[in-house]
Amino acid sequence: MEAHSVFLILFGVIATAIVVHGQGQAGFISVDCGGPPNINYVDTDTGISYTWDTPFIDTGVNVNVSEEYGYPKNPVLPFPLADVRSFPLGTRNCYTLIPSDGKGNLYLIRATFMYGNYDGKNALPEFDLYVNVNFWSSVKFRNASENVIKETLSFAESETIHVCLVNKGKGTPFISALELRPMNSSIYGTEFGRNVSLVLYQRLDTGYLNGTGRYQNDIYDRIWSPYTPASWNSTTTTGYLDIFQSGYRPPDQVIKSAASPKSDDEPLELSWTSDDPDARFYAYLYFAELENVKRNESRKIKIFWNGSPVSGTFIPSSEYSMTLSNSRAFTGKDHWISVQKASDSTLAPILNAIEIFTALSLDEVSTTIEDVRAIESIKSTYKVKKVWTGDPCSPRLFPWEGIVCSFNNSNHQIKSLNLSSSGLQGPIAFAFRNLSLLESLDLSNNNLKGIVPEFLADLKQLKFLNLKGNNLTGFIPKSLRKRAMAGVLALSVDEQNICHSRSCRDGNRIVVPIVVSLLLIILIVALVIICIMRRERKIGAYSGPLLPSGKRRFTYSEVSSITNNFNKVIGKGGFGIVYLGSLEDGTEIAVKMINDSSFDKSKGSSSSSSKVSKEFQVEAELLLTVHHRNLASFVGYCDDGRSMALIYEYMANGNLQDFLSSDNAEDLSWEKRLHIAIDSAQGLEYLHHGCRPPIIHRDVKTANILLNDNLEAKIADFGLSKVFPEDDLSHVMTAVMGTPGYVDPEYYNTFKLNEKSDVYSFGIVLLEIITGRRSIMKTDDGDKMNVVHFVEPFLEIGDIDGVVDARLNGEFSANSAWKYVEVAMSCVKDRGVNRPSTNQIVSDLKQCLAAELAREKTPSQNEKKEVVKEKYKKTPVQNYNSNEFNSTSGSVSLTFGDYNTFGPTAR
Ligand SMILES: *[C@@H]1O[C@H](CO)[C@@H](O)[C@H](O)[C@H]1NC(C)=O
Ligand SMILES: *[C@@H]1O[C@H](CO)[C@@H](O)[C@H](O)[C@H]1NC(C)=O
Ligand SMILES: *[C@@H]1O[C@H](CO)[C@@H](O)[C@H](O)[C@H]1NC(C)=O
Ligand SMILES: *[C@@H]1O[C@H](CO)[C@@H](O)[C@H](O)[C@H]1NC(C)=O
Ligand SMILES: *[C@@H]1O[C@H](CO)[C@@H](O)[C@H](O)[C@H]1NC(C)=O
Ligand SMILES: *[C@@H]1O[C@H](CO)[C@@H](O)[C@H](O)[C@H]1NC(C)=O
Ligand SMILES: *[C@@H]1O[C@H](CO)[C@@H](O)[C@H](O)[C@H]1NC(C)=O
Ligand SMILES: *[C@@H]1O[C@H](CO)[C@@H](O)[C@H](O)[C@H]1NC(C)=O
Repeated sequence: MEAHSVFLILFGVIATAIVVHGQGQAGFISVDCGGPPNINYVDTDTGISYTWDTPFIDTGVNVNVSEEYGYPKNPVLPFPLADVRSFPLGTRNCYTLIPSDGKGNLYLIRATFMYGNYDGKNALPEFDLYVNVNFWSSVKFRNASENVIKETLSFAESETIHVCLVNKGKGTPFISALELRPMNSSIYGTEFGRNVSLVLYQRLDTGYLNGTGRYQNDIYDRIWSPYTPASWNSTTTTGYLDIFQSGYRPPDQVIKSAASPKSDDEPLELSWTSDDPDARFYAYLYFAELENVKRNESRKIKIFWNGSPVSGTFIPSSEYSMTLSNSRAFTGKDHWISVQKASDSTLAPILNAIEIFTALSLDEVSTTIEDVRAIESIKSTYKVKKVWTGDPCSPRLFPWEGIVCSFNNSNHQIKSLNLSSSGLQGPIAFAFRNLSLLESLDLSNNNLKGIVPEFLADLKQLKFLNLKGNNLTGFIPKSLRKRAMAGVLALSVDEQNICHSRSCRDGNRIVVPIVVSLLLIILIVALVIICIMRRERKIGAYSGPLLPSGKRRFTYSEVSSITNNFNKVIGKGGFGIVYLGSLEDGTEIAVKMINDSSFDKSKGSSSSSSKVSKEFQVEAELLLTVHHRNLASFVGYCDDGRSMALIYEYMANGNLQDFLSSDNAEDLSWEKRLHIAIDSAQGLEYLHHGCRPPIIHRDVKTANILLNDNLEAKIADFGLSKVFPEDDLSHVMTAVMGTPGYVDPEYYNTFKLNEKSDVYSFGIVLLEIITGRRSIMKTDDGDKMNVVHFVEPFLEIGDIDGVVDARLNGEFSANSAWKYVEVAMSCVKDRGVNRPSTNQIVSDLKQCLAAELAREKTPSQNEKKEVVKEKYKKTPVQNYNSNEFNSTSGSVSLTFGDYNTFGPTAR
């Protein structure tokens, strides 16, 4: 008893639903289908707390049952049955239940129907019920006041369970109530493990004379029908029986009454005939001794099915309830279960309760997760007004409206999608691309805007594409055009808005080729001149970054002479002005003069200048040991008390920031941009992981990435980053360093600096490279906007073209760009721990490059198939998980396991 009450107390605390009579309803989903809006109430007859159904379904209409069957004429009508939700539209309408215990667990699902002439037609409908993609039951009525109850025990295959009503042309489907109860997943096992669901056939509380059938102390809320035929006696007890021995936990009222035959030697018999000769039945029989069995007496029982023994002889316990079930299904048309006393038993047999189920094969398969996600995303992006509920393709006779599927034994996929005249607005969503087997896509007569995206060409099976009657603009991507010309793709577009070749897009376009040719001529001339100059300079060639003399420390006057008295400014950095210099042998170098104030700031304190100088020397000497292909070579420094300067190799193409905003960027292909990104990432990777101790740059930005004449990128200015000891990577600083637009928000808030702060800044750099925009840009209305906020809205609608620099003219692999943006966005995550390491970034960017190279190589076939997910959709996409069921923990191990035998499932 004590255990019982402790359990109930715990249960009550956990329960979120209303607790009535000490009975918690944790995990119960009780839906009053068709109920008034926003209603939550406790049904006083059952103590069960019901909610309205709108959160579970977005189709159908709510109607009350007709006056004749409703209140007040029919005062005994259970409250949930007073109204129904009916489904005049669509073949298949589904409720979506999200059980709290998640997938892989066993749930009891019960649907209740009472027609009550709700539609005034006085015509009893007939329709089918599905649980997920599998047929569950047909719903038929004998009269308008009959309560038809369907119940199934099912394992959840995913986080959601769909209960679907299918119109089979015999009247409009409707439903009165829908309930879900979490079960113990170790009970109600069959030889098929989790491969079958059980559909309730009968649940009888034998021997009980006075019950309502639904007991508040049945934690699974099963409904037990009292059943005692005239030839049976009833025995009850008020003593204690342990119902917790097994997971079945029959309620007290059920187990504390038992039937026995009126005449001692008779058996207790139950028989039934199945309509379906292939039906497989499972029976669960409950036994507990309710009487005081005397010493010289005994109650020994055996169970027979169709005359054959299906159990050994057993003695019911007077201490606990036991449940026996057949380990192999009963099949055939006629069934006859007989509970008999064994030959050496002095007492008559008893039976406390019995449940009979039929097995439901779960042989229909679902649509692939990728297609489900894609179509759900399309549904929510465009707020598609169709009856699109449950699985898109399954059951296969009733796919979603406008969808045709290809079926196979392991999964289904969407092969045709007709969304013509469906009121779609906005750009063509990226999600279409993920319907990988799509052969036909009809988007005609909608309000679609924007360009015809190139990713449509990734749909390799696409044979028919209709985009007519939209407001699409621009040109048709080359890859689609090619397929249309080859006759592989039937393409319909509005000729007046869209043109087939790029040159006709608008007037300016024709000018472009001329400008390009002019530029080319200028470029060639320039190249020739440069070559000649180079050749002249090659005499006395400079090899490597080290200075010829091995000299690294310079005086101010030497620096002054090298720079020809600071004659030519080539840049302005955060720490000072950069001058062009030239060594005696002609090697060009860049000299960065450090102004004192910035150096003080960089130390975060106002230390005396001699101390600063000393630290500077130490760091400069250390930095001279850092060499990497993607780090601007630091060739020397100056520190003579008067001034401090850093001397770097000269980079002909300046910094990336200037380069991106110059006309040069016109020729910067996606591949070149990827090379620059990879180079920079490798430089950063070396600072973080290749240096001992690791170096945190603290001011990663496009202005600090330099490009040589081969457009190889090198990171500069790391010379001013603090060199951190290896064992103390998180530093608390007192002033935030860095450049606005690049500062890691976490560093900004906490002053804690680590490599992930560089990663954040590098994420901004990556976004600048792909968008061609500055980290902080001006919007049309003059406000300032961060490049992250510029990119986000495009990602939400899956529009990669909006993100990518228009100067690329659409010449890039969409896969590559998506992956790249994914990497960039992961770098700018709010929390440092969620950002990738530089090693990871380098390897991801290399994948982007591979995808782009694949496109360039085979432009028509496009890149290798690599699924890019729409990670940035804000619409709630269900959290599908592809783990399989754990098939061992669900099945009860049945002993006495001969063919068609009963085995006790509790000791
Ligand atoms: C259904 O009945 C309830 C209460 O009897 C009432 O408030 C509600 O307006 C009715 N709904 C309809 C659609 O008639
Ligand atoms: C309706 O059918 C049920 C089940 O057969 C029966 O119990 C009930 O009496 C019937 N009611 C009417 C009004 O005929
Ligand atoms: C149940 O299904 C799994 C795979 O889903 C299969 O491996 C197993 O053999 C099936 N078990 C039975 C009894 O059919
Ligand atoms: C049936 O239950 C009611 C209420 O619990 C009780 O008053 C009545 O005596 C019971 N009748 C029988 C026959 O047990
Ligand atoms: C579920 O049933 C199993 C087997 O009957 C039992 O061992 C386990 O304690 C039960 N779990 C719960 C939460 O009741
Ligand atoms: C069945 O009940 C009747 C009346 O209550 C009683 O006379 C008879 O002995 C009972 N039979 C058995 C086998 O207990
Ligand atoms: C058991 O013993 C009692 C007396 O204690 C006797 O009345 C009864 O008949 C015996 N029953 C059997 C089956 O021997
Ligand atoms: C296209 O856009 C124009 C104005 O932007 C609008 O007037 C027209 O109705 C649109 N056409 C379609 C087919 O939506």
